[in-house]
Amino acid sequence: MSSNQSWIDRDLAVLWHPCTQMKEHETLPPIPVSRGEGSWLYDFDGRRYLDVISSWWVNLFGHANPVINARLKAQLDQLEHVILAGFSHQPVVELSERLVQLTPPGLERVFFADNGASGVEVALKMSFHYWRNLGRGEKTRFIALENSYHGETMGALGVGNIPIFTETYAPLIQPAFIAPSPDCQQAASGESCADVTERALAGMRALLERVASSTCAIIIEPLVQCAAGMRMHEPAYLEGLRALCDEFEVHLIADEIAVGFGRTGTLFACEQGGITPDILCLSKGITGGYLPLSAVLTTEDIYQAFYCEAPVSRAFLHSHSYTGNPLACSAALATLDIFEQDNVIERNRERGAMIDRLTAPLAELPNIAHLRRCGMIVAMDLVDDRPGNQGNPFPRAERRNQKAYRYALDHEVLLRPLGNTIYWMPPYIMDDDQWQMLADVTLDAVRFAVQD
Ligand SMILES: Cc1ncc(COP(=O)(O)O)c(C=O)c1O
Repeated sequence: MSSNQSWIDRDLAVLWHPCTQMKEHETLPPIPVSRGEGSWLYDFDGRRYLDVISSWWVNLFGHANPVINARLKAQLDQLEHVILAGFSHQPVVELSERLVQLTPPGLERVFFADNGASGVEVALKMSFHYWRNLGRGEKTRFIALENSYHGETMGALGVGNIPIFTETYAPLIQPAFIAPSPDCQQAASGESCADVTERALAGMRALLERVASSTCAIIIEPLVQCAAGMRMHEPAYLEGLRALCDEFEVHLIADEIAVGFGRTGTLFACEQGGITPDILCLSKGITGGYLPLSAVLTTEDIYQAFYCEAPVSRAFLHSHSYTGNPLACSAALATLDIFEQDNVIERNRERGAMIDRLTAPLAELPNIAHLRRCGMIVAMDLVDDRPGNQGNPFPRAERRNQKAYRYALDHEVLLRPLGNTIYWMPPYIMDDDQWQMLADVTLDAVRFAVQD
């Protein structure tokens, strides 16, 4: 029996994997990973996989990164963890200072949690509690966009709009008002992306006219709705939305959990719209993909609404045991060092032309639609080209996606399609050969997946 097989047997005997119908592992078992190095993951039989999904969009500078490793090792001998209520430590203070400096102007206070969905819960509760502290207790609802995704906890599902995640739990959830998405792919024939932006803003205005008085905040994923299939919109939407939030007195929550830290071409996506949200959620790439951590930044105005002598219920009593963990904060500090020292944003920008050159042959395939790129996110949709169903997803699209996934794995690339969307969200350290390999394997995987 191979080393892999014995790990798979042990895994399947005890583990319940996330976001998985476990029965599918009967035909497609999980891949046991023994180690990672740079952009590569290695299994126990010595096979390797190019991690172009950055291990669920978290890994920015490769596995076993020497800079992050060194910082973590030093921190391990200093302090592994301490309660953050009533206590503090050097990595959390330093990280807070640097995040305030790096994020859009006006975000001056940092609250920590320990994963993306918890960060979203913090943001929602903070906004609701702010209005309540101001005597505006009638503001109890949220607005989210069509196709939004903000995580899997109950509050986060309430502002989610992807049925496979939300429908089952509907009886448990307080649903958000849903506004039209500015997704450029929704352009009707003859419409430009600017038209879609305008239409979405008009839809949002109409909704706010009805519900602003009972609404705490609008929550969005700026520039790219990732989990919905890397749906991209224009920066102008952010600018328009900021103005609407000010006009109608609702907060703007920017969930940059997936798009923050350089994914969209700027350190934070909000920069491209020239806006400062009232609350900014960060996680995933914040620790370079090493440890769970989330940071929720907000304004002095929101902070001050909680700052008083009594009653205690005015204070923000939210907490998690591992909030602001020193090891996670150290990994985040090392990640920020790499951004600075290696001029990462500029270097990624320079790679843009090369990425577009590599994706050009994919755009020519009759089974690829909506090839799109925003910074270091590339996505394309697998579509049928047969008469009668031309331009639509294949019937039984999951089978095609599985074929593409398996083909790529057999050729050393970890592609993990989202519905009928194939995407790249690679670490920022891939070299030219790895980029070329990724493009070649994707092209062949698509050709293979569409064969009957
Ligand atoms: C935009 C966005 N918000 C929130 C989350 C939830 O983060 P986590 O999986 O760490 O709970 C995700 C996860 O993919 C996300 O993409």
